[in-house]
Amino acid sequence: MIKSINKLNIAIKSCTLCMLSQNRINAVPGTGNIQSNIMLIGEAPGKNEDQIGMPFTGTSGKYLDKLLSIASLNRELVFITNLVKCKPPSNRDPLLDEITACSTYLNEQINIIKPKLIITLGRYSLKNWMPRETISNVHGTYKKIDNFILVPMYHPAAAMYRGSLRKIIENDYVELGKFINTTNRIGI
Ligand code: URA
Repeated sequence: MIKSINKLNIAIKSCTLCMLSQNRINAVPGTGNIQSNIMLIGEAPGKNEDQIGMPFTGTSGKYLDKLLSIASLNRELVFITNLVKCKPPSNRDPLLDEITACSTYLNEQINIIKPKLIITLGRYSLKNWMPRETISNVHGTYKKIDNFILVPMYHPAAAMYRGSLRKIIENDYVELGKFINTTNRIGI
C-alpha cells in the first residue's frame, strides 16, 4: 500500500495533465493515515497549501482541525486530499477539465486506501458523486455508494464567509462522531 501511494504521489507531483501544473509551487497529493477507513476530500489547494505541499494548512485547515476534534478525530486518524491536486489561479474554483484530468489520481487514492467513509468538503467534491444535489440539502447525511458511505459536509471555509452556518456545520461533526462511535462500522 505504501509503495503504491508513494508511486502515485510521485506521479501527481510531476503531473502536467492540465494547465494548473504550470503555476504550481507544489502539487498537493494528500496527507494522513493511508490505513484509515475515513477519507476527506476538499476542493483544491490554496496559496498556503501550494507553498507547503499539504492540504488544509491555512485558516480553513485550522477550522477543519477543530471540526475533526468535535468528531473525536484528528489528522492521524484520517486521510485528507482534494478533488484537484494543484492550486487554481487567484483562488478560483476548479474547472471541469481540471477536475476531469485530476480524477484518475483521486480514483487511484480511493482504490488504494479503500475508505469505508468518504467525507466530501464543499459542493465540488459532492458533485463528483451527487451531481444534482446541493450541499444545503444533503449536508450531514449518510448514503451508501459503491463500497463506501458518502457523507457530504459543508466546506470549512463556508463558516468563515457565512457565520450563521457555523452551528450547523459543527452539529454535523457531532453527529459524525456519534455515527462512528455507535455503529462501529468504520473500524478505527
Ligand atoms: N481548501 C480546500 O478545499 N483544500 C485545501 O487543501 C485548502 C483549502
